[in-house]
Amino acid sequence: MKISLIVAMDINRGIGKDNDLMWHLPADMKFFKETTSGHIVVMGRKNFESIPEKYRPLPNRENIVLTRNTSFKAEGCKVVHSLEECLSLFPENEERTMFIIGGGEIYRQAIEQNIIKEMIITHVNKSYNADTFFVDFDLKSWSVETILTKEKDERNEASFSVVKYTKK
Ligand SMILES: NC(=O)c1ccc[n+]([C@@H]2O[C@H](COP(=O)([O-])OP(=O)(O)OC[C@H]3O[C@@H](n4cnc5c(N)ncnc54)[C@H](OP(=O)(O)O)[C@@H]3O)[C@@H](O)[C@H]2O)c1
Repeated sequence: MKISLIVAMDINRGIGKDNDLMWHLPADMKFFKETTSGHIVVMGRKNFESIPEKYRPLPNRENIVLTRNTSFKAEGCKVVHSLEECLSLFPENEERTMFIIGGGEIYRQAIEQNIIKEMIITHVNKSYNADTFFVDFDLKSWSVETILTKEKDERNEASFSVVKYTKK
């Protein structure tokens, strides 16, 4: 099974504040939806709770929530208690991609455990006052390809580029 990670970060690697996103970028939201639709999305419990109730579970995707709380339940989602348990839910020849969709703690563990073969990172060209950051990974281990660029406009408050990092 292909395991990918998808994240948006600002110029300081910031990804969130007060358990919420910091920007309004519908073009990036659209890219996220298109990229992950039909696949599996794995999120930390805090990220799950940051998604407005009316938008969760994320439609057209199998939603998996990670928590250490064994009584936690989330309608329409599978709940797991470790990354290992999450991986064990799917066969090796699973055709869908497993997207790790954050937040900060889940990204860090997935990278440290070396299970990520591809990262799709939206680099937002602006500085925000974040309290959660994306792990500082070793750039030398990844091949880099820019797959989308977007200028700032009346609906998107900052320009951004989406870069695909593939493990060498
Ligand atoms: N910019 C982006 O692309 C992006 C994407 C996603 C999220 N975010 C932002 O990131 C922030 C949230 O990130 P966060 O780091 O605070 O929290 P998080 O990673 O979303 O969730 C952390 C929680 O996940 C559970 N967990 C972590 N490791 C686990 C493990 N090994 N086994 C089982 N459960 C585990 C624990 O839940 P319990 O406490 O229930 O045990 C932990 O409290 C928010 O601001 C959100 O908006 C940004």
